[in-house]
Amino acid sequence: MIAEGVAPPVSSSRVKGSPVRAIQIDRFGTPDVLSLVEAPQPEPGPEEVVIRTVATSINPVDDKTREGAIGEGTPPLPMTLGWDLAGIVVDGGSSGLRAGERVIAMSHQLSSGRGTWADLVALPAQAVAAAPEAVSLVEAATLPLAGLTALQTLDWLAVSAGERLLVAGAAGAVGGLALQIARARGIEVDALVSRDAQVAFAHGHGAGLVATDSSDLQERSYDAVFDTFGAFVTEAVADGGRYASIATQAGPVPDLSARGVRTTVNQVREDGAGLNELTRLVDRGSLHLRVHSTFGLHEIQAAHERFLQGSLAGKITVTF
Ligand SMILES: NC(=O)c1ccc[n+]([C@@H]2O[C@H](COP(=O)([O-])OP(=O)(O)OC[C@H]3O[C@@H](n4cnc5c(N)ncnc54)[C@H](OP(=O)(O)O)[C@@H]3O)[C@@H](O)[C@H]2O)c1
Repeated sequence: MIAEGVAPPVSSSRVKGSPVRAIQIDRFGTPDVLSLVEAPQPEPGPEEVVIRTVATSINPVDDKTREGAIGEGTPPLPMTLGWDLAGIVVDGGSSGLRAGERVIAMSHQLSSGRGTWADLVALPAQAVAAAPEAVSLVEAATLPLAGLTALQTLDWLAVSAGERLLVAGAAGAVGGLALQIARARGIEVDALVSRDAQVAFAHGHGAGLVATDSSDLQERSYDAVFDTFGAFVTEAVADGGRYASIATQAGPVPDLSARGVRTTVNQVREDGAGLNELTRLVDRGSLHLRVHSTFGLHEIQAAHERFLQGSLAGKITVTF
């Protein structure tokens, strides 16, 4: 693990043709299948931007992909992993982004096979946005996937100011951002968390009631429920309300149509406009980003081992 310190200057140029470093797997398994390899430079297509990666973060999907738990739809091996990226534009193409700009991006690695854990990454311009100015690129690397999931799911739930929202898993990466975004929108938020150590975080970020036991939640009282871990606390949602899960692995939300409740299992999408909104929230001070610990690229196996241990308060970031 490395301490946060003064980062070396990051080059916004590249020597065409020379290989880049990338974190790849050529088989599925425990963290020791992760290796640092030399890979060809990406060739940008039309409307694509080339970015030099400064930092990334580990998401549950990276862990599941490495294990081979995704199954159908996994990109072919060998593959470069990674969805999150914070870095510096090297070639903005026709996007309007200029070389040297600080940016964030999310790559839907499972559908495109384009992982962000490489020195240089080419991504569609519409998946890229300006990075927040108020935080470091290491902190910014915690934002793209978790933030877009929070934002897009809140948009599906269409909760308006004055309505009541329950966030289950409100101290997690997605839940913690969903809680803060909802509060910034004037929504009343209660929280379900897994342990006493998370109660102060949820209160401190604007939650009203914070429960560690779902039986403490008032029945049929929430206009909307945002479920980040497959809690399926369906008794908490009001008749006629909305219930969104993001826990794909837990399967569909039970059918609540008899009570007039709309349900979904939401899937995150690449979304530069959404990233711009998240950047504005960070720069306004409405969204606080949490780094649990930072590892160097050579420590990627140790970073995954720490991720697997759980009990995190913030995200694990990796610097290039
Ligand atoms: N569908 C999509 O597009 C999408 C996008 C992003 C994430 N996801 C999925 O969403 C889930 C959450 O992602 P994340 O990055 O936010 O993970 P995370 O940071 O690990 O957050 C999960 C949170 O849920 C809490 N939790 C787990 N079991 C609980 C329980 N029984 N009661 C109360 N809280 C509980 C965890 O607490 P502890 O720390 O105590 O375990 C943690 O705070 C993952 O399964 C991920 O794969 C899906």
